[in-house]
Amino acid sequence: MPIVNQENSIRILADEKYPTLCVSVADGAAVVSTEKPKGDDFLQIPNLSAKDFGDREFKKTYGLKYALYGGAMANGIASADMVIALGLAGCMGSYGSGGQRLEVVAQEIDKIKAALNGKPYMINMLSNRNAQMEMALAKMLVEKEVPAVEASAYIVPSEALVYYRLKGVYENGDGRIVIPHKIIAKVSREEVLEKFVSPPPAECVASLLESGLITEAEAALAPRIPLADDITAEADSGGHTDGRPLVSMLPALIALAKRKQAEFGYQQKVRVGAGGGIGTGLSCLGAFEMGAAYVVTGSVNQGCVESGTSDYVKQILAETAMADVTMAPCADMFEMGAKVEVIKKKTMYAQNAQKLYEYYVKYPSFEAIPAAERDRIEKKILKDTFAHIWTGTKEYFAKVDPAKIPQAEKNPKLKMALVFRWYLGSSSRWAVKGDPDRKFDMQIWCGQAMGAFNLWVKGTALEKAENRHVGEVAKLLLDSCAYHYMKNLLVRMGANPDSFRGDIL
Ligand SMILES: Cc1cc2nc3c(=O)[nH]c(=O)nc-3n(C[C@H](O)[C@H](O)[C@H](O)COP(=O)(O)O)c2cc1C
Repeated sequence: MPIVNQENSIRILADEKYPTLCVSVADGAAVVSTEKPKGDDFLQIPNLSAKDFGDREFKKTYGLKYALYGGAMANGIASADMVIALGLAGCMGSYGSGGQRLEVVAQEIDKIKAALNGKPYMINMLSNRNAQMEMALAKMLVEKEVPAVEASAYIVPSEALVYYRLKGVYENGDGRIVIPHKIIAKVSREEVLEKFVSPPPAECVASLLESGLITEAEAALAPRIPLADDITAEADSGGHTDGRPLVSMLPALIALAKRKQAEFGYQQKVRVGAGGGIGTGLSCLGAFEMGAAYVVTGSVNQGCVESGTSDYVKQILAETAMADVTMAPCADMFEMGAKVEVIKKKTMYAQNAQKLYEYYVKYPSFEAIPAAERDRIEKKILKDTFAHIWTGTKEYFAKVDPAKIPQAEKNPKLKMALVFRWYLGSSSRWAVKGDPDRKFDMQIWCGQAMGAFNLWVKGTALEKAENRHVGEVAKLLLDSCAYHYMKNLLVRMGANPDSFRGDIL
């Protein structure tokens, strides 16, 4: 990326053939050349590009050109097409397996593997209250030789995750431990980070050994490896979020990971990357400057052509401003009052879900809610009768968790929660389908990064949803990161900040 002088202005252009740049600042004007000017009055800076950012070992471990991956987005929003496009662009994508049937995930893995032909990808492993379903996913991932997973929503590591990590681990002739299954854990809390920097929990290892799922040799290596290779510190983001600011949490978690792993003397280093709120080149640069080994995007990818959501939602995302997002109750932890970050423009989901949560807290059963309000809930929010939804809910639980049905028949508050959760759970699928009858009920997960991105690309071709491709968006973020790095360096060395022209965003 050389810098050329144009009419007393500095312009940085994308070209990787020059290793260093010289900026002469005689008479207050910057004259830039790739050869050393005569005399002493010049600044010399390295000529960096997108591929120079991030941890080299991270890129080597996963086979990446760029230190950026697209985080998983449930219901296949982070689709096979998105994962393929990111992999082909020199980055990596994490397939959004959350909410998808096992057969569908298996099919999509086959599609990704065929298209990427050895290039990197990940599949999301989400903490699942149903341990059997989680183990079924882990076994399928091992069987299909999936090389890496993005592990998220864990508070404590599960047996399924430990099984994926340990299966196939061996020590080679020169004493090096080879781990065929990589884990990038996404966390936002210190105590969870510590669990992933530590070796797999001994009780999980013992139980897996007893059930014959891992060998004695695999179990014996467990205390010598960290549970995760990498940890994404996830700040305020679309979907589930602890709402923490990146500038506070990232340096703290990097320091904690360093301190914690010193206790174990592993052969490898556990790196920390950054996600949450990244929607511009300067956001990437900020993360790298704070020490991130890599950066993670999410919200900006949902609005791209390859995303598995509907065109209707992509259009809304392209028009979203930073103030258009809010926190609203979520389906999976509804009873606990947990919230997700969603769009509040053109949909009533946030208000409706909040009302349902308030009714759930206030009343012991649906029948205890005053009749007029019950009628309003059925007509205006659920758009169906409570009894009819309960019939469908029972059919669903008969397949996935039959014990829930008698529990709910005895406990009317639980029954009310399950029916309300039907609305919350369906609302994200209505968004993905673009259901025209449910426009105002759509639950669209989205963080501040979307509004920041929209503002950043305003007036360019990327303003339009149909022009946004994940690979190009990722490259633009990193090109801009490199540009701003060099610009900042020149300014710190004395160049006039107002003399830069033609910024590439
Ligand atoms: C629509 C959407 C769905 C998401 N679903 C998941 C998921 O299923 N699993 C997961 O680990 N993270 C999920 N995330 C989080 C992303 O993987 C990523 O970490 C996050 O979006 C980064 O923050 P940002 O949205 O501010 O860019 C989701 C995010 C969005 C926007």
